[in-house]
Amino acid sequence: MSKAMKTITLSHSSFLEICCLLDGTFKPLLGFMDKTEFDSVVNTMRLPDGEPWPLPVILDVDGETARSATSESEVLLVYQGHEVAHMSQITCFSWSDKETSCKKLFGTTDTIHPGVNRVLRQQDWLLGGIVESVRGSRLWEHQGLTPAQTRKIIRERGWSSVVGFQTRNPVHRAHEYLHRNALEFADGLLIHPIVGWTRSGDLRPDVVLRAYEHMIRFYPENRVILSGLRTAMRYAGPREAVFHAIVRRNYGCTHFIVGRDHAGVMGFYGEYDAQRMFEQFPDIGIEILEMRGPRYCSRCEQITTDHSCSHDGSDLLAISGTEIRRLLREGQPIPVEMMRPEISELLIQANSRGELFC
Ligand code: ADX
Repeated sequence: MSKAMKTITLSHSSFLEICCLLDGTFKPLLGFMDKTEFDSVVNTMRLPDGEPWPLPVILDVDGETARSATSESEVLLVYQGHEVAHMSQITCFSWSDKETSCKKLFGTTDTIHPGVNRVLRQQDWLLGGIVESVRGSRLWEHQGLTPAQTRKIIRERGWSSVVGFQTRNPVHRAHEYLHRNALEFADGLLIHPIVGWTRSGDLRPDVVLRAYEHMIRFYPENRVILSGLRTAMRYAGPREAVFHAIVRRNYGCTHFIVGRDHAGVMGFYGEYDAQRMFEQFPDIGIEILEMRGPRYCSRCEQITTDHSCSHDGSDLLAISGTEIRRLLREGQPIPVEMMRPEISELLIQANSRGELFC
């Protein structure tokens, strides 16, 4: 009788990573990183063959699982009782020096940083290996549009230029300004909010998505695609901006918006550090739209940026996800210059049901 294949039960985070590996979101990756790939990515922001890739994609396990998996030629990866994928060419390595990884990935080892904190909670052994879907399992198709499905819509609509927009916050007027600027020159806009893990204190991804469903009614039908991207926020600022751009390239975007403090958190990164990071990636394969920070100018009576308006100081109302979260937490009204009232109302209602914050 043949021996049953060893199974590894996936956490929700690892399941989401596999979905992204299997559906092409993480192209050119074929599986979880081995030590050579991991070191190359952490130290150079590129895969061993030189392709841009700034963040690790890893399967963290305990020591016993690591030891037993490496003696197998193949293991079965299971999530909530469903067979998801086979993993072969298995290797393992210890992730004992998380401090060095965090310093390089996030620029800090401060445990208050949500990305650092998440890494420290991950297990100390990493399994590398090629993943292939279990025949018949198409679980990842329930996770939002896949890259292939998105590209098909883009083809059908005849778009030749498509701007990707990353977000983890409900849409405010600065976002809207960025969208409209993109729609002025591009054929289409992919609004792609993160709906995987976000830190405690951020707004719940389902509410963010609902806010966008409302917003897209203001844009011309057939010029916008809205779909959640089921991957974790990593809060790695400039590195994550590069990762976000590569992923949107895989979804068929020709351009990608990087605004103020992209994927930043708690002031750990400079406002435009993420834009500067792209100087190291002329070969990334997607055009970066570097956008200045829109704010409301009471003298101009509209949203402007420092590239299009000369006013400063008390004439300007800053707009940010951080400020909007603060107002919501304190039960204060959100100025209409910051956010459309219908969207504020949606958030206030969700808050009153205790469904707003992660
Ligand atoms: S992020 O963590 O997903 O980057 P957020 O949802 O706030 O957070 O931002 C989405 C995109 O809009 C990012 O490219 C960000 O740089 C940009 N952005 C958000 N708010 C502003 C703002 N006030 N000014 C300029 N760009 C902004």
